[in-house]
Amino acid sequence: MSQLYVLDHPLIQHKLTYIRDKQTGTKEFRELVEEVAMLMGYEITRNLPLEETTVETPVTTAKTYMIAGKKLGVIPILRAGLGMVNGFLRLMPAAKVGHIGLYRDPETLQPVEYYCKLPSDIEERELIVIDPMLATGGSAAAALTLLKNRGAKQMKLMCLIAAPEGVKTVQEAHPDVDIYVASVDEMLNDHGYIIPGLGDAGDRLFGTK
Ligand code: URA
Repeated sequence: MSQLYVLDHPLIQHKLTYIRDKQTGTKEFRELVEEVAMLMGYEITRNLPLEETTVETPVTTAKTYMIAGKKLGVIPILRAGLGMVNGFLRLMPAAKVGHIGLYRDPETLQPVEYYCKLPSDIEERELIVIDPMLATGGSAAAALTLLKNRGAKQMKLMCLIAAPEGVKTVQEAHPDVDIYVASVDEMLNDHGYIIPGLGDAGDRLFGTK
């Protein structure tokens, strides 16, 4: 079974409070989401393998460590996932970025792909799939399936806020994918919004309604 990690770092939790606040405007919301994405990225990359190396300091030779050639990819699910990409890239500027767009078919209610552009070598990369609001989990599960069908072997899912229903859906469909969140909230309401949540993440990021 995949693991669910709730990242309870005090800075993440503090900033999440401002992100949830309905008084927080677009500019501040965007900045905070980016900062939290960076802090979450710091935790998510904690287990990257290291290799020993040496470096000449002004005094002597030091035995040191560097990340052992692990290739990363960041895959935001459009549109709200875009808001977390730059924060992650501030830590890992060489990571490649792919994009997945899904919409929900109004009749079948199933996610349908409308856009997909991925790094050519996704099978060699560890992919961090980004979906800020894990609500029903339908889009995230579909995105993970789509990536597996295109060759992805190693993935993690990074969300700001999850509903228990979304976590369950993803864990059942993808027991090999660990999920990293800043909070698991109470429930979904009848409109599919996470309660208490933060509202519509895409609208709040981009100032739309
Ligand atoms: N998507 C959002 O942006 N917010 C929610 O609460 C649920 C899905």
